[in-house]
Amino acid sequence: MSIPFEQLLPMPVERFYDEFKHKKYFIAKSNKPIFKDHFSWVELDRYLNGHGLNGWFRMPQCQIVTPNGKYCHKKAKKKLNREEMFKLWNDGNSFIFTLSEFLNQTMWQQCTEFEKYYGIGQANIYCSNAKDARCFPIHADSTDNYLFHVRGKIRWYIYNEFEYDCPKEKATVNTTVDLDEGDMLYLPRKLYHRVDTLSPRISISFHFTERGAKPYRRAEWLDWLGEINGT
Ligand SMILES: [Fe+2]
Repeated sequence: MSIPFEQLLPMPVERFYDEFKHKKYFIAKSNKPIFKDHFSWVELDRYLNGHGLNGWFRMPQCQIVTPNGKYCHKKAKKKLNREEMFKLWNDGNSFIFTLSEFLNQTMWQQCTEFEKYYGIGQANIYCSNAKDARCFPIHADSTDNYLFHVRGKIRWYIYNEFEYDCPKEKATVNTTVDLDEGDMLYLPRKLYHRVDTLSPRISISFHFTERGAKPYRRAEWLDWLGEINGT
């Protein structure tokens, strides 16, 4: 089930706009795994198995954090094959699937909930198979970011500085916080951050352009099944 923006916030929307938006991070803890429908280990297994099954180029949005930097499946001159990707996964390199909100209806609807307040956004799925997986080093994102913790546990390092304050080498840690299934973190755009995985995990970052930044609206999710029953 997708969750309306107003229910995700641990405060009234007006207070969010006044005190937090583009200024301060916040964490919304939950004692229930409220994001469990957003993406599962089974969905991940099916998606990863889609690559190279029949020899065709699949999963163009896959990125991998490797010892040699970021591998981008779409841009790479030499595409990794199925076995090479499988080895990277088992060696503890994090996988990222950008623009993945189309993978199921829950993520799609979650985007449309945010888009009542933001411009068009996207869901990026972050997956790792173990504790201490290789993740992105300290960086800042160019848009507001809502991190849903879907499976497993993760440690966040949230910094004091924004990208326009100083280079990342000079940034200082403000807070270290461990997040569990069902917890959400809001990161204002340009705030430095990084993570450590504390277990196998699936996280989803929903992030959005500001209203009016794009001249189009998201298309509808169509009911292709109609009268067809079944799962
Ligand atoms: Fe980020």
